[in-house]
Amino acid sequence: MILSKFVNELPIPPVLKPRRKDQFHTYYKVNMTEFKQSLHSELNDTKVWGYEGSYPGPTIEVESGEKVVIKWTNNLPAKHLLSVDYTVHGAHLDVPEVRTVVHVHGASVEPESDGYPEAWFTRGFKQVGPYFRKKVYQYDNNMQACTLWYHDHTLGITRLNIYAGLAGFYLIRDHRERLLNLPCGQYEIPLIIQDKSFNEDGSLFYPRQPEKPVPQLETSIVPEFFGDTILVNGKVWPFLNVEPRKYRFRLLNGSNSRFYRFKLDSGQLIYQIGTDGGLMEYPIGMKEIILAPAERADVIIDFTNFEGKNIILKNGAPAPFPDGEPENVVDTVMEIRVTLPLLSIDTSVIPSYMKPFPKMSEQSASKERHLTLDEKTDKYGREIMLLDGKGWGAPITEYPKVGSTEVWYLINLTDDSHPIHIHLIHFQVLDRRAFNVEIYKKERVIQYTGPLMPPEPQERGWKDTVNANPNEVTRIIMTFGPYTGLYVWHCHMLEHEDYEMMRPYIVIR
Ligand code: C2O
Ligand code: CU
Repeated sequence: MILSKFVNELPIPPVLKPRRKDQFHTYYKVNMTEFKQSLHSELNDTKVWGYEGSYPGPTIEVESGEKVVIKWTNNLPAKHLLSVDYTVHGAHLDVPEVRTVVHVHGASVEPESDGYPEAWFTRGFKQVGPYFRKKVYQYDNNMQACTLWYHDHTLGITRLNIYAGLAGFYLIRDHRERLLNLPCGQYEIPLIIQDKSFNEDGSLFYPRQPEKPVPQLETSIVPEFFGDTILVNGKVWPFLNVEPRKYRFRLLNGSNSRFYRFKLDSGQLIYQIGTDGGLMEYPIGMKEIILAPAERADVIIDFTNFEGKNIILKNGAPAPFPDGEPENVVDTVMEIRVTLPLLSIDTSVIPSYMKPFPKMSEQSASKERHLTLDEKTDKYGREIMLLDGKGWGAPITEYPKVGSTEVWYLINLTDDSHPIHIHLIHFQVLDRRAFNVEIYKKERVIQYTGPLMPPEPQERGWKDTVNANPNEVTRIIMTFGPYTGLYVWHCHMLEHEDYEMMRPYIVIR
């Protein structure tokens, strides 16, 4: 089905209103339901799942240090919108089909409120997973201003729950950011970019079987899912009318497996001011920005002197990344029309300096961990991805000490890039380096074959998700804490995350 481009205006998710606020806390309630929503005017309304009746969910905006309490509730039907694969760990027939649990991605949160994949709950909390601890989550927001997002994290069905619509923005603001005089209010726009495919009747398409179906198995996980249509804030290939002035955009790749290489067809620079974890030291002018699933870029684009122009936000990333088929590239994201009159003089700025970014030194690390990213075949002949050769259920092996600093070597033995996300902490990318995969597989020693490569300019800031390229060792450094307890780290390609590329870890005292 071919849908026309740029016929629907970009929706902007509403900002969620707190139920109440007292001296100590701000209280929110967020309910998950199934409903129909128009994703494109040429499509019948699509059945989706959303938070507070909205896909994407409403944006939660908090202040740094604000203590927030959220009761996430599930009012979804008993039957899943998409086909569940019962052969996948955590989604066997011994658990209810529709389960949910919410994780605020990038947040520093106590373990009981982090949305552990086995802390799921069903409609009305009738049934809960073995790690369910509380109904009301607590977020201390002890972080600087940054672009986070919340999404489902249920073991074995995260890919389906997020694809069905369970994702939204979570923005932390602070005083320092406000002093910078960035474009704000109606000139600050969050953009969640996702790929989907549709059936003729307008319903969401998600594969029921892998390309090579397994006999006797009705449904099955696919190695990756790539949709043929791009949605921004829940609309297919939308347009946005702007004034000839500066705008701030929060770019979020909320796709299951697709990477993006964003570019403006006007040739304009995109000024990146922030990474996953907040503002960078200096803005960088970029022709292209690559975002792996779950990565964010906080950017400013200046449309001054572009009056009357239509600018297309393009994508050039192959799928799978980086060596996928050119025919899998969906090259259009949205259109920006500089058609609105300038309402008032644009006094916002692209700052020349934002804030210090103290580089962590390798010498401060008390431990190094070598962790492989592996690709295997399961007993049905399907691709299965593992972290350090282990699946979700293997005994826990990572026990970092609270307050300690570690360097993790992500040793990618597969043919694809994997966006690796660690809960609880923000890290810095140290470097990447090519190595000999064959020798590593045989002897478990790293033999480097290339020079040390510094992080990409767009990664020079705090990160919570890092792209680990094939045939490279990607090194990251982080300090664990302030909380102790059970968390997870995983690949954020959701088909990988669901099929064993996720591991628990425990921060110990
Ligand atoms: Cu975006 Cu473990 O999550
Ligand atoms: Cu992966």
